[in-house]
Amino acid sequence: MRQIKVNLPQNSYEIQIGQGLFEQVPEILIGLGFKSRLAIITNPLVGSLYGDRLNANLVKAGFQTAILEVPDGEAYKSLEQAGHLYLQLSKIQAERTTPILALGGGVMGDLAGFVAATFMRGAPLIHLPTTLLAQVDSSIGGKTAVNHAGLKNQIGVFYQPRLVLADVDTLRTLPEIDVTNGLAEVIKYGVIQDKVFFTRIERSLAEIKLLSSGLVEEIVSRCCSIKAQIVSQDEKDLGLRNILNYGHTVGHAVETVSNFKWKHGQAVAVGMTAAAIISNRMGILSGSDMEAIISLIKNAGLPVKLKDLDPAKVLQAIQHDKKKIGGQSLFILPVSLGEVVINNKVSLALVEQVLSEINE
Ligand code: NAD
Ligand code: GLY
Repeated sequence: MRQIKVNLPQNSYEIQIGQGLFEQVPEILIGLGFKSRLAIITNPLVGSLYGDRLNANLVKAGFQTAILEVPDGEAYKSLEQAGHLYLQLSKIQAERTTPILALGGGVMGDLAGFVAATFMRGAPLIHLPTTLLAQVDSSIGGKTAVNHAGLKNQIGVFYQPRLVLADVDTLRTLPEIDVTNGLAEVIKYGVIQDKVFFTRIERSLAEIKLLSSGLVEEIVSRCCSIKAQIVSQDEKDLGLRNILNYGHTVGHAVETVSNFKWKHGQAVAVGMTAAAIISNRMGILSGSDMEAIISLIKNAGLPVKLKDLDPAKVLQAIQHDKKKIGGQSLFILPVSLGEVVINNKVSLALVEQVLSEINE
């Protein structure tokens, strides 16, 4: 088991990564001082795969538990579902001190995290991420949100969990498309911060996709430690943390325009491609590094083209994105492998040109 600390001015916490961790949840919770009532928020699929056993173990250890289910899918990361969850929490007489266990992928983590942050002004949150994407990214750093009025993550709050437990065994049941999806964020860490890690991913892509436990633990840990180190320096995304949004300016627009039919990782992949090309056209990124980034994205099985999406609509959605400074869209541009720069001077004409180039 590996442990990584997210050091913050207040509310520092630990990420634990390993095999068989979910079996230890009751004793870990008791160790944190929790002992009576708790709520597990999950969806029916993850609930049947992991929630029932987790629940049985918790009951055996003396906890009074309730499993609260939300339908599966990005469309349910909504205020409406948050409203249902508040009602269910009230029905089970949850209190401000009742821990909420967010069990599932990034959708569940964002929604349950938002509910934990706002229910009675904040209940303790424990993330139990079960997708690659959630283990390497969304469960860390305290961003919680729901989509609203067709806009991605429009309503949200920073709210740090008390603990993140990433049991890599759960990844074995993940459909291949969701493994691929998570790889987009894994590649992101290589590009923004760590050339050696980028090369490691390039060399071991096939084995990573097969999810051999030791290797996955290593990959998840490296991603978590990069994210923990960035979040520790800029918890509220006021500067440095923006670099974690590499690929997300175009990515979020793609998700919105596709009406959330594109998965987050796929959208980020095409966004990372667009940002690499933009950076190259602005004379910031060399042609060979641009090609290396695009090849890795492609070899991972991720999209580098907009396919059926209208570039004009993507451009319009970018202009509505919340990642702006002085009214200008913010782009994270690779400078070289392992280094990026935050830029709000990318001309709309260049973005338009690159979007039409990556439109098949
Ligand atoms: P997801 O949560 O929709 O999970 C993908 C699918 O896998 C779902 O059908 C889910 O039920 C299923 N699943 C989950 N665990 C499983 C398992 N172990 N075995 C089998 N199936 C399993 O998608 P995701 O890619 O995990 O997360 C995407 C979301 O994360 C987006 O909403 C995105 O905005 C958000 N996100 C948030 C942050 C953040 O910092 N908060 C960062 C990145 C992404
Ligand atoms: N996924 C971007 C962030 O956590 O800041």
